[in-house]
Amino acid sequence: MNKFTPDFGGTLLQDSRELANKLLAAELPNRWLHVQGVAKRAILFDPLKADTTLLAAAGIVHDIGYAEALAETGLHQLDGALHLRSLGFPEELVNLVAHHTCAHIAAELAGKKEFMKEKFPLNPSLPHTHLCFCDMTTSPVGNHVTVEERLEEIRERHNHKGPVVAYHDIADPLIFQMCEEAKQDLLLPGVSTASQNS
Ligand SMILES: [Fe+2]
Repeated sequence: MNKFTPDFGGTLLQDSRELANKLLAAELPNRWLHVQGVAKRAILFDPLKADTTLLAAAGIVHDIGYAEALAETGLHQLDGALHLRSLGFPEELVNLVAHHTCAHIAAELAGKKEFMKEKFPLNPSLPHTHLCFCDMTTSPVGNHVTVEERLEEIRERHNHKGPVVAYHDIADPLIFQMCEEAKQDLLLPGVSTASQNS
């Protein structure tokens, strides 16, 4: 990763946390808990297999696009990425946020595929699968859940209808596949994949 030139005066992780805190903690307190949970899960990975600092930073900012002040394209993944870019965060972080958890499917459904391709061409060398794993094994309030529990909870929360469910109808097989791939790089395979409640 290129050397980070911080606008906020801290490390990449500190500045990412500060930004997410500012945008989410008061307006969307559950989302703030969620992103902190996602960021913490980055340490489960072997740092020789994935850049865990970048992954933790991406985890904490991946959902900033839900903040009302950032609403621009109709997709939180793109809104978050545009905002990070405007602040000078590294393109690796921007790319992870733009593409997090199969965002290309949401972009296609929303008619934003070309916009995404033009603004955020996928950088496949980044830990997209690992971020998907961290996101899909963290509940809306930051607890550890299985991928199955997470996906079921999303469907229930949206009453099994609407654009989010339509996106998951297409994305879920790929989400499962990405999470399985990411599991290969866990430091302690098996330990982190079970739910807290089981
Ligand atoms: Fe998330």
